[in-house]
Amino acid sequence: MPQKTLIIFKPDAVQRRLVGEILARFESKGLRVAALKLLQVDRSLGEKHYAEHVGKPFFEGLISFITGGPVVVGVLEGNEAVAVVRAMLGATNGTAAAPGTIRGDYSISKQNNLIHGSDSPESAAREIALWFRPGEVVDYAIAGSQWVFDGA
Ligand code: RTP
Ligand code: MG
Repeated sequence: MPQKTLIIFKPDAVQRRLVGEILARFESKGLRVAALKLLQVDRSLGEKHYAEHVGKPFFEGLISFITGGPVVVGVLEGNEAVAVVRAMLGATNGTAAAPGTIRGDYSISKQNNLIHGSDSPESAAREIALWFRPGEVVDYAIAGSQWVFDGA
């Protein structure tokens, strides 16, 4: 069954001009782009997104980082999209992430790890509602999708 997940190209990905290269990985995997936009995150939105980390030692640095430049945020859809994207991201810390993963191939930092991906279907639903109005998430059919999605 198709599932939606939220991704954020964090400010380091935008500034390093890796958005296109990394988005191409998700598309090549077979994920469908259901929503995509570039915006400057304010403190309020950053705190809501990372609410689970309030009070942790890295929280202030994390808010400074995520509000430090524009991000590109999107919704991807595909079979088991939440787990598929998390696996493609690799471990949180770029110094530990396995080669072949996005963080393993492009990041050498714990904080500046390029991409966020929702960590559960429940987080995905919360985050999609936080970042997008309903009309901004678009349902459409991909031509020839039976060659990618069938047999799930
Ligand atoms: P994300 O939420 O961004 O997809 O990353 P994640 O699930 O792999 O990691 P999480 O534990 O949710 O941490 C959120 C983000 O906070 C930054 N971080 N910095 N300096 C530190 O100790 C530290 N720990 C986490 C990272 O940017 C991480 O992605
Ligand atoms: Mg997380």
